[in-house]
Amino acid sequence: MISMKKISILPHLLLTASLAFAGLAQANEVKGNAAAGNAKVWLCVGCHSIPEYRADYPLVYRVPMLGGQNAAYIAASLAAYKKGERKHPTMRAISASLSDQDMADIGEYYAAQTASSPNNPLK
Ligand code: HEC
Repeated sequence: MISMKKISILPHLLLTASLAFAGLAQANEVKGNAAAGNAKVWLCVGCHSIPEYRADYPLVYRVPMLGGQNAAYIAASLAAYKKGERKHPTMRAISASLSDQDMADIGEYYAAQTASSPNNPLK
């Protein structure tokens, strides 16, 4: 009897392990594309493309410039806001709607810019 139970649990373990592995493989496959990112930053330019701009909700924050920042850092920051590890309310709301692919694309887009790139990326 005991050996039957052991056998019947094995497929579940294998399935769980392969699903977990598929999840990992998928996460590693996300590759950012700067051109795709260009179409996704329209929401961001109002704050991030204005030198010395300060957002005044809920406190006065200095908005960081993103142009020239490392792509992986940007994607990781957005993921941290989405998960709630970083707390800024507006950034949390904004990142909630971004997929891993969006974050990677946006990262590549900003990494290809410089801090003094033209303000409007859609031009
Ligand atoms: C209402 C203004 C506003 C908008 C719109 C906005 N941000 Fe932000 N963002 C901020 C502020 C303020 C901070 C700094 C918050 C903090 O200290 O955590 C920030 C921080 C960030 C950071 C972390 C930078 C760092 O140096 O750690 C990233 C990445 C970022 N924003 C990306 C984006 C992207 C991508 C968009 C558009 C999809 C966007 N933001 C839209 C105001 C904004």
